[in-house]
Amino acid sequence: MKLLYLAPCTLALFGLSIAHSQSVSTSSIPHLEKRGKATQLIVDGRPFLLLAGELTNSASSSMDYMERYWPKLAAANMNTILAAVTWELVEPEPGKFDFALVDDAIREARRHHLHLVFLWFGSWKNGDSTYTPLWVKKNPRQYPLFLAENGQVITYLSVFKEANWKADANAFAALMRHIREVDGDAHTVLMMQVENEVGCPGATRDQVPEAKAAFDAPVPRQLMDYIVKNRDKLVPEFRQYWEAAGSKTSGTWAEVFGGQPMTNEIFMAWYYASYVDKVAKAGKAEYPLPMFINVDLGESIGEYSSGGALPIKLNVWQQGAPSIDVIGPDIYLPDFAEWCARYDRSGNPMWIPETRSDAANAFYAIGNHAAMGISPFGIERQADSTTPLAQAYELLGQAAPEILEAQAKGAIKAVSLDAQHPTETVHLGDYTFAFSVIRTRRPAPTPAAGRDAQTSSYAILISTGPDDYTILGSAVQATFTGPGPSAAAVAKLEEGTYVDGRWMPGRRLNGDDIMLNYDAPNKAIKNESGQGFRLAAGAPKALHLEIYRY
Ligand code: DGJ
Repeated sequence: MKLLYLAPCTLALFGLSIAHSQSVSTSSIPHLEKRGKATQLIVDGRPFLLLAGELTNSASSSMDYMERYWPKLAAANMNTILAAVTWELVEPEPGKFDFALVDDAIREARRHHLHLVFLWFGSWKNGDSTYTPLWVKKNPRQYPLFLAENGQVITYLSVFKEANWKADANAFAALMRHIREVDGDAHTVLMMQVENEVGCPGATRDQVPEAKAAFDAPVPRQLMDYIVKNRDKLVPEFRQYWEAAGSKTSGTWAEVFGGQPMTNEIFMAWYYASYVDKVAKAGKAEYPLPMFINVDLGESIGEYSSGGALPIKLNVWQQGAPSIDVIGPDIYLPDFAEWCARYDRSGNPMWIPETRSDAANAFYAIGNHAAMGISPFGIERQADSTTPLAQAYELLGQAAPEILEAQAKGAIKAVSLDAQHPTETVHLGDYTFAFSVIRTRRPAPTPAAGRDAQTSSYAILISTGPDDYTILGSAVQATFTGPGPSAAAVAKLEEGTYVDGRWMPGRRLNGDDIMLNYDAPNKAIKNESGQGFRLAAGAPKALHLEIYRY
């Protein structure tokens, strides 16, 4: 695995050292920074592209289980692993903390030149409270549970009880204090996820007395004022929902948003956000790493949890949880591009905390939405240097400095093509590129060849100068046209690799390798030269293209 632009974990100590809290300067802590057109994760002073993978839920609970996987994860070209840290194992008795598993994960990550993002499985994991310590579970009088609309108590901690968030925030703060002590200098740990896919069963709301009172009380001023002042900037579907109920500027939740089920969801979203914010804030007071939440997606009510940060509730979460820096969609649903677009709004930095292992999606999110990174789930079970994802990560890792600069400049685009969507036109800089799935003489893959075969045509296009481009990708081809009346052709096309972040040219491509169409007279009518480039199927490769006009 190559981390060419970042000293791997600053060649960290393989053991854990205790840094004095005073020695950790805030500016050196991994943080998010708006750089030009992109918000990026800055690690040790440089932008960092998260080429990540998330472990299955129980993996990080056993050092023995993980032992065999660390080398495989490193060999699969990842630079960051997302691993659960659970409240039940960290605080087995009230106020008594055990960070042995956290320390082991940090030690092993450093040993394998990997970074970590920890997932705090605290009050909720996918709505339920299965990761709370036994002393919380067995004491529902002190740590009260959710009351369903049918009068049943369910095993979810209630959002409306102060004792719950206080206990969670106390544990999370202790965890962040510990991470600062053992990692405040080395920066192996880059970000924290607070809780996991929070929410309660579809379109319902908690019925504990405090929840009922809150529902009948006025919508909090903080949210109401935000909606009124930012009317034109709201996510359109949220604005429409509010306007359909009469654009009221005060009133109870039912008065302001109407009596539809979505009002329950908006109400729960506000209170989940407020709770998660208190936990995140307590953690940041100890060690202010960037913090995010992840979202369980669905198209219609019942397919996802009420109160989660679905796109319609993005603004509610942003206002309710200012300590949360990023709202990350867990994209398992088919339309990856559409879900990216729905979260690339309202200033939300792009980061995909969970998804399927799919090289094309990784390229797409990073290239078309300036994503900070992507993290397929269940990664230890598929960690292998020969997978399409590992091959994609290898090239993305090599080209990361160029990609990150291009994200900041807004000089990067991406395409992801398949049989249903075989062509796409991309405008970048002065030129227009007509991308299509690569045409070979071999028969097209049959559906039986699987999902990867259908989605493995992808490319990132980077504008590196007025007439210069870098192209990274697999199984695509493109011709291009210039602006105005002059036609455009290939001045120089080379394939190559990156060594220590620097371009190392390989073959100079010409002849059959740039002529995509030999019918020059007819192409010329449309201002085209018929010249372009191809990227063969298989492991993605890099090209540098220089264009001239005539
Ligand atoms: C989404 C959850 O956030 C993950 O922890 C895991 O349970 C996956 N679903 C399983 O597909």
